[in-house]
Amino acid sequence: MYSAADFIPTSYTSTIENGNFEWSAPSNIALVKYWGKKDNQIPANPSISFTLNNCKTITKLAFSKKDTSASTNGFSFDLLFEGKPKEDFKPKIQKFLERVEAYLPFLKDYHFTIDTQNTFPHSSGIASSASGMAALAMNFMSLEKKLNPEMTEDYFYQKASFLARLGSGSACRSVKGNVVVWGNQANIEGSTDLFGVEFPYTIHENFKNYQDTILLVDKGEKQVSSTVGHDLMHNHPYAERRFAQAHENLDKLIAIFENGNIDEFIKVIESEALTLHAMMMTSMPYFILMKPNTLQIINAIWKFRNETQIPVCFTLDAGANVHVLYPENVAAKVRQFIQDELVVFCQNSQYICDEIGNGAIAL
Ligand code: PMV
Repeated sequence: MYSAADFIPTSYTSTIENGNFEWSAPSNIALVKYWGKKDNQIPANPSISFTLNNCKTITKLAFSKKDTSASTNGFSFDLLFEGKPKEDFKPKIQKFLERVEAYLPFLKDYHFTIDTQNTFPHSSGIASSASGMAALAMNFMSLEKKLNPEMTEDYFYQKASFLARLGSGSACRSVKGNVVVWGNQANIEGSTDLFGVEFPYTIHENFKNYQDTILLVDKGEKQVSSTVGHDLMHNHPYAERRFAQAHENLDKLIAIFENGNIDEFIKVIESEALTLHAMMMTSMPYFILMKPNTLQIINAIWKFRNETQIPVCFTLDAGANVHVLYPENVAAKVRQFIQDELVVFCQNSQYICDEIGNGAIAL
């Protein structure tokens, strides 16, 4: 298991003048939520997520060596979104480069062109920071691997997740699939605050190919940025109890993944979603990020589940959109239900069908 110091390279054995890489990295949906952090993007509690398959960012990184005289003059990069220069994304990338510079000491030696696009619609309310930071981290690791060809695969992926975490916490869960844990949890061997690791224990057949249909309720700008959101957990009256509860829920999930009990799974997952929002409603300042249609959807899911006994449930991010989660063997019936009863609550009837996936891919 690596520590942060292991990710600071001392010297490189190879050189490279220019080239390019391309990686895709998916989004992920947390089952036990990360909400609250300490310095350096260390989570206040552990989290676990399903890696998604279809919602992803595809990022191409072109690099060329600067003349040595220019190499100390700060970072040099162009940022393209869907092929066109995008100035408003640059400060986020600049900040990321500053945070990871100690771990990637070659960054100031090159000029980079970062060309990025998402497979999900722009301003869908789906955060692209997890997939975006993960895709960028993979590209930088490909470059580091050229400089240090002896690098092991374990080091490559763990450091990629470590770097992604410094960009956006939940991004560290987007490097690998299918179920990823991030944060120290006594009962999960290998779990660490530093990067995401694949859930190391048995996952019952019931959870293979789990489906996630994302209902786009509100596609507006995020009302609360995640930086502001995590900050709300400082001096929050329920913070300590909440952090303890996340550990308890994660332990429950270890057993649930093993025994395949979907009814118990649903209880943990829906409670986590509502607790995340309860934390926002009880912080100072306070926020309500659900919209009327979010509640309409939740109530319709509960009614449908009661009437049909089909094990469909919901989870939420820090926004109004609803992730509808269900096993693959009921997919046809749930899709019909979504079409018949939930699409009316989506903005412009928009929703995205996704499912559990395998993590980042080199293209
Ligand atoms: O990775 P961040 O800082 O954008 O925080 C993500 C927080 C939630 O999406 C609300 C929960 C989670 O664990 O993904």
